[in-house]
Amino acid sequence: MRRTFFLTFEGIDGCGKSTQAERLKRALTERLLPVTHTFEPGGTALGRKLRTILVHDDLNLSLFSEVLLFAADRRQDIDEVINPALERGDIVIGERFADSSVAYQGVAGNVGQERVERLMDIVTSGLVPDLTLLLDVDPRISLARKTDLDRIEQRGPFLDAVRYAFLDMAARQPERWVVIDAARPEDDVFRDVLGAVLRRLE
Ligand SMILES: Nc1ncnc2c1ncn2[C@@H]1O[C@H](COP(=O)(O)OP(=O)(O)O)[C@@H](O)[C@H]1O
Ligand SMILES: [Mg+2]
Repeated sequence: MRRTFFLTFEGIDGCGKSTQAERLKRALTERLLPVTHTFEPGGTALGRKLRTILVHDDLNLSLFSEVLLFAADRRQDIDEVINPALERGDIVIGERFADSSVAYQGVAGNVGQERVERLMDIVTSGLVPDLTLLLDVDPRISLARKTDLDRIEQRGPFLDAVRYAFLDMAARQPERWVVIDAARPEDDVFRDVLGAVLRRLE
């Protein structure tokens, strides 16, 4: 079997996932490694439609329906982007995955950690990232970086709960998670990101 490598960035809104994922993609491509970069919600045509619903529309979504819409997007991303890329032998860089549903809706949103974990196991057919980089930052810092806050991101104190949910998940699975202090300048964060990834790839 071909060796596959699936890594994800997690962390609250504005922590730097998109910034670091782009830089990592460039750095790995420069090393002539094949890379596929995806993100959610929004990496597929279905995902882009769901993203407008999840991020912009005021449909009074319950937290559990939110879980299911994110789940539909995630499954589409797995079928359309992630699995084909892993089969080609690409390194797949994802921005957010099942862990975001567990932290946001499961723990912080009170849908229930175990319930969301079980659902995600079904939705992903057990696909778990080989490495998850948690870009950890105080929401007061990350929110100040963003000027256009969307529907989900506006829930300020909620993000404290999300942050601690991520830290707790990372502490319980240290073989998969690497916690990176993302309050520092971009270059410093990236040095740790690249270091963690290259260590795992070797
Ligand atoms: N380490 C950093 N220090 C300061 N600003 C940052 C840092 N990393 C990213 N930013 C800026 O913060 C904003 C949010 O970053 P982004 O990568 O979009 O976060 P995310 O994808 O996690 O929401 C962007 O304007 C980005 O340029
Ligand atoms: Mg982003």
